Amino acid sequence: MKAVDRQEQHTEEQGRCPVVHFDSRSHRQVMGFIDELDVLREQHPYFWDPEAQGYWVLTRYDDIREAYQTPELFSSDSFVPTDPDPTYFMIPTQVGPPQHVKFRRLLNPQFSPSVVAKMEDDARRFANESIDQFIDNGHCDLVREFGGTFPTKVFLAWSGLPTEDSPQFVEWVLAVFNELSSSRATAVQAAIEGIRSYFRRVIDDRRHDPGGASIDIFTHLVQAKIDGALLSDDDLLSICEVLVLAGLDTVKQELGYAFRHFATHPSDRQRLVDEPEIIPAAVEEMLRMFSVAPPARKLTRDVDFHGCPMNRVTWCGCRSTRRIATPASFPIPNR
Ligand code: HEM
Repeated sequence: MKAVDRQEQHTEEQGRCPVVHFDSRSHRQVMGFIDELDVLREQHPYFWDPEAQGYWVLTRYDDIREAYQTPELFSSDSFVPTDPDPTYFMIPTQVGPPQHVKFRRLLNPQFSPSVVAKMEDDARRFANESIDQFIDNGHCDLVREFGGTFPTKVFLAWSGLPTEDSPQFVEWVLAVFNELSSSRATAVQAAIEGIRSYFRRVIDDRRHDPGGASIDIFTHLVQAKIDGALLSDDDLLSICEVLVLAGLDTVKQELGYAFRHFATHPSDRQRLVDEPEIIPAAVEEMLRMFSVAPPARKLTRDVDFHGCPMNRVTWCGCRSTRRIATPASFPIPNR
């Protein structure tokens, strides 16, 4: 069903906000979510989605930017719109200011351009190894056969872990994200427990033998201090969990959209071949066009947000739509 039909069927209002039964957990065709949200963005700057306990959706660039930049009002206590009171606490994702920046200072050096540049040869090698697995077939299921293994090996090499462990990580991440949508809490829990016990061993190892392995991100983390104190095991495990869950499925999804785009727009693909210097800009554009992880925020108080009366009590989160854009920000947002 198109977003426009959905809206015609639901003309009630939440406060002064239109209500749209978008229902992010229902299945769509590829690009279905994105196309519907493109329509909704043009129709409404905000709407109320009654999914789960209900939440507001911001659709336009300036408002979303303002929300993300006002953490005292739009907090990170919850970042999943259907889960307003999470039982988990993810670091640094759910940490508010001023502590947030202290955790980020520990992590940021690992994401610096120079560290990432050093990964280039390995990344090429991992890509080639993955392609070698299916090249003789002449075709592949890109998300399954490339999107799982390739980013996992890059992640493991970047963080200092053995790339031989990649099949286990692929399995854990698949279990968490596949089962989250089907609400099979036991399978998710088992995978999370697997990830945590793996990292319990890594943390233990780096504490007892800091120079044993090459100095990696975990060596830095176990020695790091915030406000003069070493990080607790819970904090360290939470950071490791975030790195795995934030870093692997996102890249897989993004690769799926990007490769689909190039398969269906051969002239864009040819342009990258002819002008490789535009690849960095093309990556940014893919991330904007197919943004796979629009996080929610939790209101800390009632507010009238540019005409949308948001109520802390009835509420959960504010979620951004994909391809967020106003004509002023991106003249042709859908291309
Ligand atoms: C295409 C791939 C990726 C996308 C689309 C993506 C998207 C995002 C988004 C939207 C957030 C903000 C969440 C929020 O504020 O609630 C985030 C946070 C984060 N991501 Fe990624 N991510 C990607 C890849 C990665 C990778 C490869 C890693 C690390 C290996 C990573 C590590 C993190 C971490 C640590 C955070 C928390 C940052 C903080 O709270 O300050 N991400 N990511």
